[in-house]
Amino acid sequence: MLFDTHVHLNADQFHEDLTEVIDRARDEGIEYMVVVGFDRPTIKKAISLAEEYDFLYASVGWHPVDAVDMKEEDLEWLRELSAHPKVVALGEMGLDYYWDKSPKEIQQEVFRKQIRLAKEVGLPIIIHNREATSDIVEILREEKASEVGGIMHCFSGSPETAVQCLEMNFYISLGGPVTFKNAKKPKEVAEIVPLDKLLIETDCPYLAPHPYRGKRNEPAYVKLVAEQIAQIKGLSFEEVAEETTRNAKKVFGIN
Ligand code: NI
Repeated sequence: MLFDTHVHLNADQFHEDLTEVIDRARDEGIEYMVVVGFDRPTIKKAISLAEEYDFLYASVGWHPVDAVDMKEEDLEWLRELSAHPKVVALGEMGLDYYWDKSPKEIQQEVFRKQIRLAKEVGLPIIIHNREATSDIVEILREEKASEVGGIMHCFSGSPETAVQCLEMNFYISLGGPVTFKNAKKPKEVAEIVPLDKLLIETDCPYLAPHPYRGKRNEPAYVKLVAEQIAQIKGLSFEEVAEETTRNAKKVFGIN
């Protein structure tokens, strides 16, 4: 049994064959998935999918790329949604210095507001980080995000950064890149992070694992991520599947 902790089944790429994609995931033993919303339309869709399927849960947050669009009422909306029984986390949120749609200062402010909200409502947070590691770590420290903890989604940083995140009560989630032949850092991270702090994800439709690299990703492929981690750590696939599922249920508070 596997738990894909980060899916975007709410993305347009799944519009035409969503039922088949979900069926394939279930056939491959994916027991649970968290559908992550990051703007108004994807949050609405994440909630409606979580309401429709028992085994789907939702996370709601505002993506840093769109930070300039977030209004006060959107933050209030996130607060309301946080009480929904199928909402298990806030995010994705964080910093993205690759795209320049939203100035850094605004991204940081929107990030801080969401961390504060998570602490108020007592939900873990899902962090998106692109080329902003040192600022992310600093903000998580300053805002005492360790009180709620959460997940470093599709972690691509160094082993040293992974250790800093573990110390702040965050789990490290690995996705497709750990299967890429030239991906040195994710493989090192998989090696040093204890299994009880690791999660697996696809981030589908993005970042498909080898041998599907470059194609549309889907939750069924999370199995390849678990297999790769098992190989790196010298463990059985079953051990990795079981423990990462247990970790995910713990962080999201699913019994
Ligand atoms: Ni994502």
